[in-house]
Amino acid sequence: MKTLNSVAASLLVFISLTFLPLASCSADPIPVDPEEKEEQEQEQEKKEEPEKTGSKTLLVWYSFTNNSTAIAAALRSHITADALEIKPAAEGLDYAANNYAIGSSLIDAIRRNPSAASSYPEIKKVEVEFGEYDTIIIVTPLWWSQMAAPMQSFLFRYGGNMAGKTIGLIVTSASSGISGVVQDAKRLIPQGNFLAESLWIRSAEVGNAPELTSAWYDRLFKTNNQNTSMKVTITAGGKAFTADIDDSETGRAFLEKLPLTLDMSELNGNEKYCYGLSLPNKDSRFDSLEAGDLMLYSGNCIVLFYGAAGGYSYTRIGKIADTSGLASSLGSGSVSVKFERQ
Ligand SMILES: Cc1cc2nc3c(=O)[nH]c(=O)nc-3n(C[C@H](O)[C@H](O)[C@H](O)COP(=O)(O)O)c2cc1C
Repeated sequence: MKTLNSVAASLLVFISLTFLPLASCSADPIPVDPEEKEEQEQEQEKKEEPEKTGSKTLLVWYSFTNNSTAIAAALRSHITADALEIKPAAEGLDYAANNYAIGSSLIDAIRRNPSAASSYPEIKKVEVEFGEYDTIIIVTPLWWSQMAAPMQSFLFRYGGNMAGKTIGLIVTSASSGISGVVQDAKRLIPQGNFLAESLWIRSAEVGNAPELTSAWYDRLFKTNNQNTSMKVTITAGGKAFTADIDDSETGRAFLEKLPLTLDMSELNGNEKYCYGLSLPNKDSRFDSLEAGDLMLYSGNCIVLFYGAAGGYSYTRIGKIADTSGLASSLGSGSVSVKFERQ
């Protein structure tokens, strides 16, 4: 297991790994008092609370003849989302009167000068903490093949706050195709992470909105949000390292356990180890391990090497590619090491 020069030292290492460290690991399977366990879990939940920030969904819509309102309500009965309705500041306008005269002139003004704030009609004040959301779903009518003007006003004002967020777009029209509305959304949220497929619901189909919206959401969002990354961030001593996890039964089982914080014990100046996490193993002898190797020993011991080693049987979990600073971050004694999926 170690690169040691004497048989005696190797034996000492084996004994210490095999018999001593069971109680020193925070991911331990050792039976604990249920009350104590509950307290520990509550404590853990408290610690994890800040990480939940920014994971909510905001569902925002504008509607003139209530189709978008019905679509938003249908989707809202399928998902958990905060709701925000955009309302024009000017009340009682009939955008469709006189062959859609008002709606038409509003769209014309934006088309003529899309970068001027004065081109966009005033909307009622909105208060949104954008930092709370990682996903924003927009439901909007189509006007003259563009996004309805009041929704454009909202996005002109706040699209910059949506950078990096997942953006879903649902458009309703009588019959016109929605590509112009998709272009408007991308112009107004230039750094949005748009879903590959926007949903088009014709006016005549609004009655089917529950089925249409839930099928769209499940198809796109659930796939989009599934974490398929095989990379993890390993944080120790205030420094973060990236490890590539093997696409193996062991690697995938390890990823399933994350996030995880292990109190890892020191061994022989080249590894930190922690018993208590059982994973499927297919052990074989490794004669040449190096800093950054993340291994499973005897099916229930996570070993992170920060120096050269070898001579024992392991199953590989993964590897840190860039190990600069790893040894100093892990230090010379026991250390708390956090493993999180990227
Ligand atoms: C000003 C205005 C312009 C419209 N332009 C079009 C159009 O170009 N093509 C189309 O198919 N529908 C058009 N419509 C119809 C709406 O897109 C459609 O009725 C939509 O479902 C309305 O959604 P809402 O009820 O949420 O306002 C227009 C409606 C308005 C009010």
